[in-house]
Amino acid sequence: MSVSPASSPVTICVIGSGYVGLVAAVCFAEMGHRVICVDNNEAKVAQLLRGEAPIYEEYLPQMLARHGNRGVTFTTNLAEGIHPADAVFIAVGTPQGSSGAADLSYVEAVVSQIAQVMNGYKVLVEKSTVPVYTNEWITRCMHRHGVDSDQFDVVSNPEFLREGTAISDFLHPDRIVVGANQQRSAELLSRIYAPLTTGSYYDQPEALPGPCSRHQPARIVVTSAQSAEIIKHASNAFLAMKISFINAVANLAETVEADIEDIALGMGLDSRIGPRFLRAGLGYGGSCFPKDVAAFSWVAEQHGVDFRLLQEVRQINDRQLDLFFEKIRSALWTLRGKKIAALGLAFKADTDDMRDSPAIALIRRLLDAGVSVAAYDPAAMDSATRLLPAGEQMRYASDPYEAATDADAVVILTEWKQFATLDLQRLNRALKFPILIDGRNLYDPAVMANQGFTYISVGRPAVYASTQGRPRKFPL
Ligand code: NAD
Ligand code: UGA
Repeated sequence: MSVSPASSPVTICVIGSGYVGLVAAVCFAEMGHRVICVDNNEAKVAQLLRGEAPIYEEYLPQMLARHGNRGVTFTTNLAEGIHPADAVFIAVGTPQGSSGAADLSYVEAVVSQIAQVMNGYKVLVEKSTVPVYTNEWITRCMHRHGVDSDQFDVVSNPEFLREGTAISDFLHPDRIVVGANQQRSAELLSRIYAPLTTGSYYDQPEALPGPCSRHQPARIVVTSAQSAEIIKHASNAFLAMKISFINAVANLAETVEADIEDIALGMGLDSRIGPRFLRAGLGYGGSCFPKDVAAFSWVAEQHGVDFRLLQEVRQINDRQLDLFFEKIRSALWTLRGKKIAALGLAFKADTDDMRDSPAIALIRRLLDAGVSVAAYDPAAMDSATRLLPAGEQMRYASDPYEAATDADAVVILTEWKQFATLDLQRLNRALKFPILIDGRNLYDPAVMANQGFTYISVGRPAVYASTQGRPRKFPL
């Protein structure tokens, strides 16, 4: 299907004001559309109405200041959002259900509510990550609630933003995927994204700078709805596979005294492989990769397709955390009664999102093993205290050095830039023993040995303070 990107403002309703919904809402306003963002969480909407960002995300406060209560308004009233809208983006959560399948109950609830307040033709857009054929289910659900086919179309428009760089990813996307089974709905989506696909947005004086430009605008790919749904699941599963692959290679590298950073560099320079998502470490976490790999695996199973590769991706990822825990135990000999400084709580840098954070899972295991933990994270401490309340064994520190004071070892769990530029001598003095176990490979082992540390990382030979920089294989 080919579409022409006519550019004119569209009235858009976005349902859900989480990482995806809120970012989409402010970015659509930034692109010149009129947006009403609906959420049923009253506290969140009240916060947004006060102009406050409910999540930690670069450029979000500026975007809210620029468009909040003007180009984008916030409400808990669904009808208020739906009535004036030509397009309704559904951006509610699709968490993992007990069978591994995506739990679509939030999507179904929203679709049922939309059906009850329809007042003319609208395009319903799946922005949430959903399994293939969800477009069919949404259509069926609308029909069951008595809405005729001529009143709506369903389009898949998956979102590929990453937390931490969400605004920039949205306005400078690698691609925009529109899965539409009808021409008229594809035309509307193409109109919505026209400022990015024609490049007109990038000419504006206040446009967010980034890789796209008037001469290299964002690319739009129009497919069937089913293909678009699969593109999203397959993309996340492929990226997760890349991480598991490099982690498996890292484990091999460790056993033969090779260096995973050199290996990743050498592999990534092959343009067919590419350098990104080849960072070995604790394994992937977050609100998406774990659940989307499980959901895609379930989809394959439901359709009778043997896709065991996905199970292996998950198993390697789970094992990665076990191996890291074992490294800590091995470095400290025994764990009960030890004190460990944990640097990083969020599932990755530049976010305060704690969902499925490997750091939290690892700290829980340390606490269970009788370790006292002092943790520090530049952004995620508030969210972390809800999951790991402070207590006798669990303490939150005001900076990395305070966390390290008198600790038996320090562990790096999140790849914050701040943790890659620590004052190593100050850290060394604060610690009881200069042992650093790095789950994110932020330091050069030779430098660490010269700074007097025993340094254990992922996929590289461990070095001991006493070996004065000579790499030596770590005895497990
Ligand atoms: P989130 O949990 O941060 O936000 C979901 C929001 O929907 C919440 O604010 C919730 O209050 C609201 N909501 C739930 N039911 C509602 C209802 N009936 N009416 C109005 N509001 C309702 O979720 P998220 O991280 O933004 O993810 C949303 C979807 O986007 C998921 O399917 C996810 O897989 C996908 N996705 C997420 C990311 C990401 O980086 N987080 C990236 C791409 C895709
Ligand atoms: C991921 C995808 O990158 C987005 O394209 C997608 O839209 C999103 O999921 C989603 O569907 O929700 P996100 O979860 O924000 O984005 O974070 P990533 O940057 O992809 O990192 C995911 C996890 O993988 C983190 O725990 C990170 O530390 C880990 N990771 C990433 C590695 O261990 N190694 C790497 O090389 C890259």
